[in-house]
Amino acid sequence: MPIIRFRTIVVAAVVCVLIAGASTMSMAQAYKGADGCKMCHQFKNKPIVEGHAKTAHAKALQDAAKNPAAIVAVFEANAPIKKEQIKYVLGTGRVYQGYIGADMKTLPAEWNVKEKKWVATSAVDAAKQCIGCHVTGYDAAKATWAEDGVRCEACHGPGMAHASSGDKTKILNPKSLAPDKKAMLCGQCHSKGTDTTKTYAFPVNYKAGEDLSKYFIAANSATAGRNQQYSELKGSKHFANGVVCVTCHEPHGAGTTEPFQLRKPIIDTCLECHAVKDMKTHAPSAPAGSTCATCHMPGARHTFKKPGA
Ligand code: HEC
Ligand code: HEC
Ligand code: HEC
Ligand code: HEC
Ligand code: HEC
Ligand code: HEC
Ligand code: HEC
Repeated sequence: MPIIRFRTIVVAAVVCVLIAGASTMSMAQAYKGADGCKMCHQFKNKPIVEGHAKTAHAKALQDAAKNPAAIVAVFEANAPIKKEQIKYVLGTGRVYQGYIGADMKTLPAEWNVKEKKWVATSAVDAAKQCIGCHVTGYDAAKATWAEDGVRCEACHGPGMAHASSGDKTKILNPKSLAPDKKAMLCGQCHSKGTDTTKTYAFPVNYKAGEDLSKYFIAANSATAGRNQQYSELKGSKHFANGVVCVTCHEPHGAGTTEPFQLRKPIIDTCLECHAVKDMKTHAPSAPAGSTCATCHMPGARHTFKKPGA
């Protein structure tokens, strides 16, 4: 009898240890969701929580059934796709908007916001070509994700363990990262290339704070294009001098009304470090209304070259 009881205790203890072990492991990798972060941080970090909710990041992918107003396209009788086909909406519609159908393929037309017209595209497998950069906590093997849009944990890593304890050692504060790792955090999405198996158009299982080069083969395109700011910046004197994305951009859009979450208006941003006295002396040919970006970031390119160089 005592022996049996002892065994029961041992077995129970082993089971407990196993369960505890399994749950700490999964908790370290588990996502809480932005509403869970808000619970505590809306008091101490109100600007962060409120700022982030308004960013394009938070709305980078939206569920059409939950938020039909996310669709900015106009559907006339001859529209190449039907509104009812849309399951997910990609992008807030600043320049264009893309759509995904129930089969997880992109629908064969995108909406050009400025010209208010449809542009035909080829349908691709969005699970491999798109979604990973427009959501938080993407599981490529299952084609499922923790949360729509680029939310807190896309940049801070899975936060369940931190959220259950409030223990600040269990969450990444990117402030502590070296500049190159800080830029990689943004580069996980603001880059063109493939995962290491060349199956996905984004890094698979990369977590904020890690070395992106272990997860991603950069295309390093020499021509202008969308979402390649990290590749462009990497070759610049800025990057070599530790000037990275969050030097100029506020990651949460907190306390700024400038476009693109810039911390300050463009000219003020540049004059923080550059002693260019005034535009007339520096660039006599500058058209009225020019900013430093007019000549040094044509097409919003992030190579920051001298014109002609
Ligand atoms: C139970 C309350 C609670 C929840 C939920 C919570 N946090 Fe925290 N968080 C804290 C506390 C407490 C601190 C420490 C604040 C301090 O020391 O000033 C903190 C600190 C942080 C820090 C700074 C860490 C550092 O080293 O400076 C980050 C980043 C952070 N939290 C992000 C998150 C994210 C992302 C979520 C959602 C996944 C989240 N928090 C959910 C309570 C919480
Ligand atoms: C998980 C992917 C992901 C990560 C990580 C990410 N971004 Fe983005 N970012 C996007 C997507 C997708 C959009 C497009 C949102 C839209 O317009 O719908 C975007 C848009 C932006 C914009 C344009 C915002 C606007 O108002 O039009 C800026 C600026 C930006 N990101 C900067 C950053 C910076 C800086 C970091 C790192 C601190 C970062 N991003 C990290 C995916 C990401
Ligand atoms: C490697 C990450 C990545 C992949 C893969 C990706 N995107 Fe994006 N996407 C971004 C980022 C970052 C932005 C914002 C920066 C930019 O537009 O330069 C963005 C912006 C957008 C926008 C908003 C453009 C605007 O400014 O109005 C749309 C629409 C979009 N993507 C659709 C797609 C579609 C469709 C696919 C798949 C064919 C796709 N994306 C694949 C990262 C990605
Ligand atoms: C696009 C990436 C990105 C997203 C999304 C994001 N953060 Fe951050 N967060 C950062 C970066 C980068 C820093 C460090 C800022 C710096 O270096 O100036 C930071 C810093 C913080 C800090 C520490 C502030 C301090 O002063 O030490 C907290 C707390 C925090 N974030 C909470 C959140 C919460 C909560 C959310 C969601 C509502 C969120 N973040 C969404 C990138 C992000
Ligand atoms: C030295 C300052 C600076 C740095 C560093 C910087 N940016 Fe920018 N970024 C800007 C300015 C200024 C603009 C607006 C350009 C314009 O209006 O032509 C901009 C625009 C953008 C846009 C909108 C692009 C578009 O197509 O309209 C995105 C997205 C972006 N930045 C992301 C990033 C990311 C990601 C990084 C890091 C890899 C980064 N930026 C580094 C200053 C900077
Ligand atoms: C945090 C400081 C900082 C900010 C902000 C900053 N720069 Fe720079 N910039 C530098 C440094 C450091 C260098 C490298 C100087 C060198 O190597 O001689 C540099 C170099 C340059 C160069 C010369 C590049 C070359 O290849 O010779 C240009 C052009 C430039 N920056 C434009 C800008 C513009 C435009 C902005 C605003 C959008 C800006 N910078 C914002 C620090 C900054
Ligand atoms: C009309 C175009 C134009 C505008 C606008 C402009 N620049 Fe320039 N910038 C140039 C040209 C051209 C050069 C190269 C001059 C040379 O090689 O002697 C240059 C060179 C530079 C350099 C490199 C200087 C060096 O000695 O290596 C920096 C830094 C710079 N500009 C910053 C700025 C800042 C900051 C602003 C905004 C206040 C700005 N520029 C606005 C055209 C422009």
